[in-house]
Parts: sequence; structure tokens; C-alpha cells
Amino acid sequence: MSRTPVIARNVPALRRALDGLRAKNAVVALVPTMGALHDGHMSLVRQAKRRADKVVVSIFVNPTQFAPSEDFGAYPRTWNEDVAKLAAESVDLVWHPDTKAMYPSGFATRIVPEGAAVVGLEDRFRPHFFGGVATVVAKLFTQCRPDIAIFGEKDFQQLRVVAQMVRDLDLGVRVIGARTVRERDGLARSSRNVYLSEEERRVAPVLYRTLKEVAARLRAGGKAEAAVAGGAKIITTAGFELDYLELRHAETLAPVTSAKGSGKDAPKRLLVAARLGKTRLIDNIAV
Ligand code: PAF
Repeated sequence: MSRTPVIARNVPALRRALDGLRAKNAVVALVPTMGALHDGHMSLVRQAKRRADKVVVSIFVNPTQFAPSEDFGAYPRTWNEDVAKLAAESVDLVWHPDTKAMYPSGFATRIVPEGAAVVGLEDRFRPHFFGGVATVVAKLFTQCRPDIAIFGEKDFQQLRVVAQMVRDLDLGVRVIGARTVRERDGLARSSRNVYLSEEERRVAPVLYRTLKEVAARLRAGGKAEAAVAGGAKIITTAGFELDYLELRHAETLAPVTSAKGSGKDAPKRLLVAARLGKTRLIDNIAV
């Protein structure tokens, strides 16, 4: 049965709503989002519901993680549909601050993440991104004080950066990574997929198909450099402009030159970012 969630738009209203939710020592989960909710987000919400008594979803398109040349203005905003979807999942509380509530006049404090935030992947192409993400996520955590928080594995580097920040700053939130939800043809669900033209949408699944092919070669003992170079060729031949296709250590995201060893001792991740027309897609796979 659908139940409209409480909607808080400023910090005092959020605190009052959270006090109510926590009254019986409830375990609270936070799912941070920028709205434009799709099946990927809804699977995070369902996972939060399985793991916690109360679920808070934040919807805030965070300006500080967009460069001036990026799509902050055009980023899809679908508030009514988002609330209907969250109501259908009986989410308890939606935290929906406006920019002034999140960054009041005179705001002057930022988090500058290092470690997994400066390994030459997303940070190489979007140098502003992780500072903006870390700052807003730290704020979301201190505002909502969740016991657990769920992030999608599609943004794998972001997941690692947030986990590191929580450890470093003793934020006391259990960060959980959730598997990427895909379209039937393998394309990772993303709010930005709406930017793809019909032709680009047809080509887009090449990215995940290539990740699977390269990962299979690596698992079969193929040489890392050759397997990755072969994958890069497939991606560019399909019409993408490739930002990176890289094999990395799955925890530190440090470069990995040999595909040897796997599992717990040497977990690896193959990560890709590529542009199709004006749309930038990212994806990754465990190796
Ligand atoms: O992954 C996202 O949607 C955003 O980067 C996040 C974590 C909500 C921070 O704005």
C-alpha cells in the first residue's frame, strides 16, 4: 500500500521528523540521491528497507559536484514522479533541502578527499567532483545521522571515497555498496541515460558487453595490458570517446598491472568512462 512520506525541506523540520522516526531506537537507513529516480535508485531503497526499520531518501541536486561546463541546469528533475515512487515503497522521510538550506550564505567549509579520490579515474576528468560529493555527503550524514547508508556500485570510485571518508572522520555510518541495476541489454541504469538519442541508446550497451569480455579474458589468465587495449579498441570503434578503461585494485583503486591473483587477496575492478555524443557514461565490473 502506498504511503506519502514526510517531506522535510529545512534542517529543523528534518530533525523533528528524525526524532519521531528514532523514538523506538529504530535503525535508520539513508539513500542519498539527486532525484530523477529510476529502478537503480529504487533497488537501493528496497535494500535499505530490508536492512533498516526506517528509510530516509535525500533528493538534492548538488551544485558543488558539477563543473560550470557540466549539466547542473539540465540535470533531470522529476519531483512529483520521485515522490510517487518513494510513496509506493513506503519510504518514511524525504529530505529535500534547497541550495540555500544546504549551502547558506557564507558557507566556507569543504572536505578535500584524497586516497581513492585522487587515483586518476573520474578525478582526472572531473577534478571538482569528489570534493563536492564528499562535502555534501558529510553534510547529509551529519544532518540525517543514519545508521547505514546505501550507495550504488555504478559510481564505484564515489563508493570508495565515501567509505574512506566515513572511516577517516569516524562518522559512524555503515556504508553499503549495492549492485548496479541494468537494462535488459546490459546498460547500467543512470539518470543521464535520458540524454541518449535513439541511435546512441542502441550503441550504449557496448560498454558493458566490453567490460564483460575483457573481464572474462583477464579471469582466463590473459595479459592485462593486451586485454584492456583490446577492450579500448572495441569501445572507440563503436563510436565512443573513451576517457578511461582501467584495471584497478578494488579497494584502493591503485593501478594493477597484472591480472594474476583474484578473490579476497587481490580483488580487482575494471572501470570505464566514455562519452557518446554529449552523454558521459560510466560503468565497472568485478574481475
Ligand atoms: O550519486 C549521487 O547521486 C550523488 O553523487 C550523491 C551521492 C547523492 C551526492 O550528491
